[in-house]
Amino acid sequence: MFVAQRPVAVVSDIKVAGLYKDRFSQALHDADVTVLSWHQIPEGETSKSTQQLSQLHTELLDAGMSRDGIICALGGGVVGDLAGFAAATLYRGVDWINVPTTLLAMVDAAIGGKTGINHPYGKNLIGAFHQPSAVLINIPVLETLHPRELRSGLAEVIKYGVIADAGLFGDLETQVEDILSVSSEPILEIVARSAKIKGTVVGRDEREAGERMILNFGHTFGHAIEATTGFGAWTHGEAVAVGMVLAAGFGVMLEKTHPWVPKRIADLCASFDLPTSIDTIHLGSLGEAVGYDKKNRRDHIKFVIPVDIGEVEICSIEREDLTTWLQRGDI
Ligand SMILES: NC(=O)c1ccc[n+]([C@@H]2O[C@H](COP(=O)([O-])OP(=O)(O)OC[C@H]3O[C@@H](n4cnc5c(N)ncnc54)[C@H](O)[C@@H]3O)[C@@H](O)[C@H]2O)c1
Ligand SMILES: [Zn+2]
Repeated sequence: MFVAQRPVAVVSDIKVAGLYKDRFSQALHDADVTVLSWHQIPEGETSKSTQQLSQLHTELLDAGMSRDGIICALGGGVVGDLAGFAAATLYRGVDWINVPTTLLAMVDAAIGGKTGINHPYGKNLIGAFHQPSAVLINIPVLETLHPRELRSGLAEVIKYGVIADAGLFGDLETQVEDILSVSSEPILEIVARSAKIKGTVVGRDEREAGERMILNFGHTFGHAIEATTGFGAWTHGEAVAVGMVLAAGFGVMLEKTHPWVPKRIADLCASFDLPTSIDTIHLGSLGEAVGYDKKNRRDHIKFVIPVDIGEVEICSIEREDLTTWLQRGDI
């Protein structure tokens, strides 16, 4: 194994380290891995900051991290994004391994090589592409995950069904109970299929020149919901669930989407206790937030529309059309 003889610095958050530090340390010891140091960041999105990054760099250097050392991220997407970016930037790039512990990180954040932190102007504005040398997934850690976090990850799994795999979507419809109870076989299966879809799409378009955009299905409205409701009020997956239903509804209005698609997506989201609508008061302000960030107000946006379950199309849409449709509230 390529980690043998190389020092490993483990980065985790306080919660995950509290749950898994002993077991993970033992597993590394059993595999003859030399652990150089452990670093624990506070849990939550605010840790994706320049201050936290700088502190982590300092701690790694103080611990004696060398150019041939390996950074190992153990945690959710926050830990992976920060530790991955620290790996991308320390000595202009050291190797890293990602051990995702949330469903969202297993099926999404850990795959694709995007690393980074937030800026006061917006999320993920500072970062780098830096592929991990390995992504190691251990399904049983999902048992300690808060159910709301599990459901948040399931929204991304539903997304993969819509954009690329009608069979996955159908299996989700018939295995709700098993998946929610985290019984290992069904969830292992859906994690493997989802991770594979993301890996395949990213493998064909690493820098998001074209096809990778399909992964944004549900996210144009989803990001707008997160922004208008105040970041943190909704989980990312909850916002994406409503975003997918809205995107399908918009597609029906444009006569690009089969009419049964929005309801099938909404029913599946609802069966996992994910929200499927947003009240009309918010719909108006959603229009304002769509396709907008502090640096950029675009007239046209690339928008992912489902044609059917398992098939999507990237369209160039006038922002004005989306805004008007939302403000009509005729959804
Ligand atoms: N790099 C990418 O391509 C990419 C893609 C999607 C999302 N992201 C990023 O991922 C982040 C969100 O990731 P997330 O949803 O994993 O959130 P997170 O990392 O904040 O984890 C959510 C919570 O779950 C806890 N937790 C993690 N694993 C646990 C476990 N096994 N048991 C109990 N508790 C556990 C964490 O301590 C935290 O409190 C965002 O910052 C987002 O921007 C990145
Ligand atoms: Zn997402």
